Amino acid sequence: MKQRTWNVAVRELLNVEGIVAEDIVSKNGPVLLPSGVSLRALRETEPEIVSLLLKHGIAQVRVRSVPDITAGEFRTALRSLVPVVSELNPMLTHLAVSQLGAIYQNIENRETRERGVKTMLTIASRLPKEIRRTSSITLSMVDSDGGENGREHIHAVNTALLTGYIAQKVFPIWPSFVESCIMGGLFHDIGKAFIAGAPALRSRNILPGETKIYNLHTLLGEALLRDAGVTDAHVLSAVRSHHEKWNGSGAPDRLSGESIPVAGRVVAVANAFENLTSSLLGEESARSNQAISTMICLTESDFDRRIVRALLASIGLYPPGSVALLSDGRVGIVLETKERNLLCPRVLVCVDENSRRITPFEILNIHKEGTVYIKEVLDDFGKRKMESLTAETAEAVG
Ligand SMILES: [Fe+2]
Repeated sequence: MKQRTWNVAVRELLNVEGIVAEDIVSKNGPVLLPSGVSLRALRETEPEIVSLLLKHGIAQVRVRSVPDITAGEFRTALRSLVPVVSELNPMLTHLAVSQLGAIYQNIENRETRERGVKTMLTIASRLPKEIRRTSSITLSMVDSDGGENGREHIHAVNTALLTGYIAQKVFPIWPSFVESCIMGGLFHDIGKAFIAGAPALRSRNILPGETKIYNLHTLLGEALLRDAGVTDAHVLSAVRSHHEKWNGSGAPDRLSGESIPVAGRVVAVANAFENLTSSLLGEESARSNQAISTMICLTESDFDRRIVRALLASIGLYPPGSVALLSDGRVGIVLETKERNLLCPRVLVCVDENSRRITPFEILNIHKEGTVYIKEVLDDFGKRKMESLTAETAEAVG
């Protein structure tokens, strides 16, 4: 793709996509708008720039395009990298999503739903090993299509994956607890299946009058699992307590601080992060780096700070899949974050400093580079599309 530069009228500046190509300097010297800034970032953080430029008599800004990198291209490149960036077996995710769907559909039939729970437990027991070999969990989480269809099941599976990833960081020598947390993550919202015909009650925007009914899903979920023969106290408490808040304002028991069961605290963090990054009908999802910022802001009131710290250590300030504009003008996609270098991940560079696409993409370790840093996040390719399940692959995963 060729680099393209063109002049944009200042009044139209926030209506186009691209990067400022040349410094805009006022008549008496100071730089009003430096080159390298993306117009998307200006739109979000500095919308008053238009009136400032007009006040200084600036009529046009030279803009350059950023070559489009698609999520599909990123995935293709990801699979050919050496060393490999391991992803979770996509068919296992698909199986879990399908099985959860089957439980929801047959929620009134006790026998079928209990059989479904047992199948889910088998699938869940496969996940710890998969999660352990995955270096960047956000690349294995699945994107929903933004509609209601299957969204809850995808959300549950993503929450389970992230829960396991975090729990492993905090409790590396307690694998059975990690497994319980994963099961808790898978089943955390299963009680919502009983709240029929009220899609609004399943979204993140709960009306004040609906809160009590909504909160019931924690108790209904716990009861469903007990009925199905689940006796693991960590799984049950994760389901019951994933809406408790550190300051005691949560539900259903208004527990606070250390009195909240640990598995519930881990699922609470994973659930909140996943919700922020999920698209809902008519609502845009947050990019994962924005979700991390929100989680940090909510830590004091809502979460166990050790668990949020583990989330941060697991996926960094720029989670894998973040499309990053680097300080030297290059564009890359975050592959991995090292715990000691949350600001300096390993990046797959796709576009050079002159906005030309690099072929093949190159790996850059930002922390070794020293002078380069991430200027802003342009997009998020973190979650992957759900792959279709064929008979052979279903059989292959078990
Ligand atoms: Fe929930």
